[in-house]
Amino acid sequence: MKYAVIGDPISHSLSPIMHNAAFQALGMNAVYSAEHVLKDGDALPQFLDRARKTLCGFNITVPHKTAVIPFLDEISERSRLAMSVNTVTVKEGRLIGDTTDGTGLELAVQEAFGLELTKRHICIIGCGGVVRALAFHLANAGAASIAIINRTRDKADALLELVKVHFPMVECASAALADTALSGELLSRAELILQCTSVGLHEGDPTPIDSQLLPVQACYFDTIYRETELLKAARARGLRVSGGMGMLLHQGAASFRIWTDRQAPVEVMRQALLKASSPHAN
Ligand SMILES: NC(=O)c1ccc[n+]([C@@H]2O[C@H](COP(=O)([O-])OP(=O)(O)OC[C@H]3O[C@@H](n4cnc5c(N)ncnc54)[C@H](OP(=O)(O)O)[C@@H]3O)[C@@H](O)[C@H]2O)c1
Repeated sequence: MKYAVIGDPISHSLSPIMHNAAFQALGMNAVYSAEHVLKDGDALPQFLDRARKTLCGFNITVPHKTAVIPFLDEISERSRLAMSVNTVTVKEGRLIGDTTDGTGLELAVQEAFGLELTKRHICIIGCGGVVRALAFHLANAGAASIAIINRTRDKADALLELVKVHFPMVECASAALADTALSGELLSRAELILQCTSVGLHEGDPTPIDSQLLPVQACYFDTIYRETELLKAARARGLRVSGGMGMLLHQGAASFRIWTDRQAPVEVMRQALLKASSPHAN
């Protein structure tokens, strides 16, 4: 049984290590590889033609999560809302899409902070592809309010308009990152802050927002795996903090369950990720 993750770039992905450890632990005759599928040209449809014939399932990462949708035979309701697919199951040559990013975030937040999403006031920093999936998941899970602070405020407004159509009970608000006063006001009400910009992915990146605006009573979850400057500053201010490894783990475990109909060996997968991401890994 063959599985894969596709993206551009893809060499940094820890998904093969996590899934191959799971297959091995359960004695399954399966292998998971990373495939570099270029953003431009026919690379994506060509890969999908091949996948129909040779794979049992695959994960999708940047930049194909939305672009893949027109090529699929079926997608879940949650993927349709989020316009995002990160998990495809191949069944008798048919491609069936789903998204597990929201589940991954929810389980990671529960694990890190013991926090349920229901009735929570949640503030998201950033409004890229992953936030589409997260915003609908948070609304569906019963969040009381969702505020989005983004460099480009229009993107946050457009997404929140859609969220309100499907979940009118959820209170929604937005601010531009540059509007410190409004951003500070939205952050001050938050019980959970989700850092979802790409700022912090690289050593030396600044913080996307002034850390003094983070309320000390909130929990701070950074979707980036490495310790960002904002995570460090949040911790120093006394917030409870978590990096994004738990989200990677739980979205992967959810994909594993969808493909195999078996419980994923989460602890085995976690240990494989920790080992691979430790500074001493080679
Ligand atoms: N832990 C996990 O399992 C997991 C899963 C998925 C994604 N992620 C992480 O989530 C993050 C976002 O992913 P994505 O797919 O949503 O990326 P994306 O679509 O490229 O969106 C990037 C976001 O970052 C903002 N941004 C970029 N440069 C900025 C800057 N210099 N100053 C302020 N804001 C800036 C963008 O703002 P504009 O809208 O204004 O351009 C946008 O909101 C990434 O760091 C990724 O590693 C983690």
